[in-house]
Amino acid sequence: MDLHNRVALVTGSSRGIGRAIALELGRRGADIVIHHRRNSTRAQAEAVAQELRSLGRRTLVIKADVADPSDVARMFSVIQSAFGKLDILVNNAASAVFRPLLQLEEKHWEHVWDVNVRAITLCIKHAVPLMSRGVIVNITSLGSMRYLPNYGALGAAKAAIESLTRSYAVELAPAIRVNAVCGGLVDETGFSEMMPLDVKERVIQLTPAGRLAKPEDIAKVVAFLCSDDAEMIRGQSIIIDGGIALGLLT
Ligand SMILES: NC(=O)c1ccc[n+]([C@@H]2O[C@H](COP(=O)([O-])OP(=O)(O)OC[C@H]3O[C@@H](n4cnc5c(N)ncnc54)[C@H](OP(=O)(O)O)[C@@H]3O)[C@@H](O)[C@H]2O)c1
Repeated sequence: MDLHNRVALVTGSSRGIGRAIALELGRRGADIVIHHRRNSTRAQAEAVAQELRSLGRRTLVIKADVADPSDVARMFSVIQSAFGKLDILVNNAASAVFRPLLQLEEKHWEHVWDVNVRAITLCIKHAVPLMSRGVIVNITSLGSMRYLPNYGALGAAKAAIESLTRSYAVELAPAIRVNAVCGGLVDETGFSEMMPLDVKERVIQLTPAGRLAKPEDIAKVVAFLCSDDAEMIRGQSIIIDGGIALGLLT
């Protein structure tokens, strides 16, 4: 699973799951574009870059709002100038509005759709001309297929991303592979830290694996999908949830 001489962009890699993915791809040899949105997370993004440079990887840190088409275009032109190509795109950046249906306003829908659904399409459109053979991995969540309280808008966006994953896997074949990784609740992330302790404990009780997934569990599967060993996997959404979605009455 050697990724030397590949250039990977991981969106939202200043922290959380994106950070773990950037580090995992870097450990396997890829040069990494670390991306974040806010000025306040620049230092975190730079710390990820520093860790990767200490492994001998080349890095580039870019700040861009994936909901803004001109910012996305700028990000890819910076990548083209720096590396001249892109081999791997991991669409990990996300932003949610957690509200029940009756409290979801137009602006919330627009935000969730722009940051999550339109953004991955924009990123893919800009990435494809930079790829000769390439891999795209979209990060989704169990909310794409299961009920979670206040998760309706983001769940719909994640379901749309899984649908687009299938479409783009066919449209961009054979040279570009597109898959998704669908996570259950992931420990050591902002989202899991928002969860009350008793809810987290209940989730662990219901999880056949006996623990929550960690960012590294997601990152290892993303790295596998990016490798040549996954050549025949196309358009799939791989669930990494320790088995919790299997149970009805567990
Ligand atoms: N956490 C979980 O339990 C869980 C479970 C299943 C799936 N997932 C999925 O895994 C992915 C990562 O989750 P996470 O919990 O690690 O996320 P996180 O800690 O909330 O980090 C989100 C990342 O996305 C970036 N971002 C947010 N809005 C952006 C925008 N408009 N433009 C560009 N970048 C933006 C953030 O940049 P800044 O740092 O600059 O703000 C940050 O790097 C998401 O797709 C999420 O839906 C998470």
